[in-house]
Amino acid sequence: MALITWNDKLSVQIRQCDDEHKRLIEMVNQLHDAMKEGKGKQVIGDVLNGLISYTKNHFAAEEQLLKSHGYPDYEKHKKEHNQLTLTVLDLQKGYEAGSAPLSQSVMNFLKDWLTNHIQGVDKVYGPYLNGKGVK
Ligand SMILES: [Fe+2]
Ligand SMILES: [Fe+2]
Repeated sequence: MALITWNDKLSVQIRQCDDEHKRLIEMVNQLHDAMKEGKGKQVIGDVLNGLISYTKNHFAAEEQLLKSHGYPDYEKHKKEHNQLTLTVLDLQKGYEAGSAPLSQSVMNFLKDWLTNHIQGVDKVYGPYLNGKGVK
């Protein structure tokens, strides 16, 4: 069973962002499946790497979009992205070093991290960007 299922509450009303968020959710679910199936460290490490690099790209694209439309909370939003990135990189470091297994609690952390960010600060930029003609 998927860890996270997409639903309308997660929509930020911007097509590109919704598509990228859906892909992120898919990747977290993939990681969850690999962990559940007891896949090896190499496989899980690769999935984790993919998730991190997609996350970085998504954050950069989102920041670009917000900046180019003069979003007032741009700096605050970017800061939250930076913080999230650091936390996940830390988690990855622990995993690679073997000190921290990818546990259910790590998966729940990733799930909350993603859904809280989308439903919290990401959703707020929707109406602003819609007002700038971005759909
Ligand atoms: Fe964001
Ligand atoms: Fe986002």
